Amino acid sequence: ILKMVKICCIGAGYVGGPTMAVIALKCPEIEVAVVDISVSRITAWNSDALPIYEPGLDEVVKKCRGKNLFFSTDVEKHVSEADIVFVSVNTPTKTQGLGAGKAADLTYWESAARMIADVSKSNKIVVEKSTVPVKTAEAIEKILNHNSKGIDFQILSNPEFLAEGTAIQDLFNPDRVLIGGRETPGGQKAIEALRDVYAHWVPVDRIICTNLWSAELSKLAANAFLAQRISSVNAMSALCEATGADVSQVSHAVGKDTRIGPKFLNSSVGFGGSCFQKDILNLVYICECNGLPEVANYWKQVIKINDYQKTRFVNRIVSSMFNTVSGKKIAILGFAFKKDTGDTRETPAIDVCKGLLGDKALLSIYDPQVNEEQIQRDLAMNKFDWDHPVHLQPMSPTSIKQVNVVWDAYAATKDAHGVCILTEWDEFKTLDYQRIYDNMRKPAFIFDGRNVVDEAKLRAIGFIVYSIGKPLDQWLKDMPAVA
Ligand code: NAD
Ligand code: UDX
Repeated sequence: ILKMVKICCIGAGYVGGPTMAVIALKCPEIEVAVVDISVSRITAWNSDALPIYEPGLDEVVKKCRGKNLFFSTDVEKHVSEADIVFVSVNTPTKTQGLGAGKAADLTYWESAARMIADVSKSNKIVVEKSTVPVKTAEAIEKILNHNSKGIDFQILSNPEFLAEGTAIQDLFNPDRVLIGGRETPGGQKAIEALRDVYAHWVPVDRIICTNLWSAELSKLAANAFLAQRISSVNAMSALCEATGADVSQVSHAVGKDTRIGPKFLNSSVGFGGSCFQKDILNLVYICECNGLPEVANYWKQVIKINDYQKTRFVNRIVSSMFNTVSGKKIAILGFAFKKDTGDTRETPAIDVCKGLLGDKALLSIYDPQVNEEQIQRDLAMNKFDWDHPVHLQPMSPTSIKQVNVVWDAYAATKDAHGVCILTEWDEFKTLDYQRIYDNMRKPAFIFDGRNVVDEAKLRAIGFIVYSIGKPLDQWLKDMPAVA
């Protein structure tokens, strides 16, 4: 039996960092090294200001760092010493060449695999932690084994299901851990070795072992199903607005069916984040490559509805404000793609802000966890570019004047014509809306893209309120959004 003493994870990002910190906490006898080519990221992991904001993460890192958890840029040393190498590098959507705008870009993955092959001197288990297209393991095996010097590499697929904002909780108490491997004796032994790591804290009946392709595909499937629920409820939200139904009531009634379940049925301005769109595009591409256009089109629709929802929101804002927002100050409350994270990758706020900027609005943006530099960069970036260079993107000089970033919801809303809530931060529920109203231009509008405000209370103050999928104010009925 292989005695596991050392784990190395390539990629110290949103997945690699928290996942390895939890493994280190739960397996004190295992030494865990998290490595990355980004010097600034590793420096931050070794400081008091961790590179990502995630509730509970600081505590876990503080308990293990320097004991059995290390962050380093010495990628080759730690890889060569490890028994298990997790690969958790980014796998963005390709922006150029074959499959551009759809296929996964495996450049980072391939270079990590080649490096593993080059520096290894002992047998290793290589674990796909990144979300990858089904059949990637086969390509990785080829890279590793072609370079092999008699070394045995076992490839496992161990996709990660954590959600940002609840990463630590999800890692402590996962619904399941999925491990896929080869159906050979060597493959089965590798599965057991990884299962033993997770079995330190995960009940064995929640550790699912499958073949490689099932594990790889299950990750894409799970994200597609989750995103589909959101697009389904968002599609209903448009119909609710047209008919006077209330999407919260519909979600509640539908979700009471135990076959459907109540979770993940919140209507919103659209889903964001680094995973859903990327993984569905990837799934669509794989279906097309396998000659399954009907299946590809089915999943494509999930993204189309998401884009429609964002456009619909912008159109609603502009049409209700007399068909123009040119020169009007609009407050944007929340920029992160969901609450309890500072992550802005694919956040719907980018599309909504760009839509409003296209109509010449002046934006004043506040998010408790996202800084000005990040916001300006996001608004200057082309679609899909966000995950490519690890470091800074250029800023467009024109965007700076039209966009102000402030550190307080009251400053953001002062003298504004409208307020858009784009992230469901808890603090937006308890703002002093009377004070906000008093300091706004009239008529004062609130567009709630997350259904966090109490509409009746706000209407009593005097606001014109739009909440996704809720019965419309007379004002909004009189000013229909043009498609
Ligand atoms: P990330 O961009 O935060 O982190 C990836 C890190 O890998 C970066 O710090 C980058 O510098 C580093 N890297 C790239 N190439 C490298 C190399 N050759 N050697 C060393 N380091 C290298 O990405 P993430 O959000 O952690 O996602 C990683 C993977 O996990 C993706 O495939 C993603 O789809 C998947 N995933 C993400 C989430 C999530 O919530 N973010 C959840 C589940 C799965
Ligand atoms: C997702 C998956 O949940 C996770 O299992 C996977 O590992 C990575 O991708 P994440 O993107 O971090 O996680 O967050 P998630 O909570 O899934 O939210 C994604 C987006 O959907 C957010 O923009 C969120 O606001 C939105 N959402 C979520 C809704 O609009 N309505 C809902 O009911 C739930």
